[in-house]
Amino acid sequence: MKELVIIIRPEKLETVKEILDDVHCGGMTISSVMGCGTQKGFSEGVNEIKGFKTTINLLPKIRVEVVVHDKLVDELIAEIRDKVATGRVGDGKIFIRNIEDAVRIRTGDRGQKAI
Ligand SMILES: Nc1ncnc2c1ncn2[C@@H]1O[C@H](COP(=O)(O)OP(=O)(O)OP(=O)(O)O)[C@@H](O)[C@H]1O
Ligand SMILES: [Mg+2]
Repeated sequence: MKELVIIIRPEKLETVKEILDDVHCGGMTISSVMGCGTQKGFSEGVNEIKGFKTTINLLPKIRVEVVVHDKLVDELIAEIRDKVATGRVGDGKIFIRNIEDAVRIRTGDRGQKAI
């Protein structure tokens, strides 16, 4: 199992939800976060904060966490890139981690049966 942590522009949330629904993922967790990438939050929309001096500008992003079967990972990455990339800086990132185990609390299901 792998967890994809997908950081996207807020306006791309519906698109990513649809992609995850299409592959019948067992669930997802969404958070509203602030972040920046290599441009430190500049040249990604708001370039100027008047009267406020800062070297790091945090922008609103959405964080999607989803745990999926290994075999879905490449397909999901391709779909997300295809539908979420705008070609402009700030499109976001996908972080991928190994998940050792999972438990469905109601039933006690473990591993892939639990996702
Ligand atoms: N190394 C990182 N660690 C944690 N979060 C990150 C990292 N890089 C990016 N993020 C998150 O992803 C969001 C979008 O990053 P962004 O797409 O701007 O990355 P980038 O490396 O600057 O790429 P680009 O040059 O295309 O803008 C950030 O606002 C932040 O929330
Ligand atoms: Mg960036």
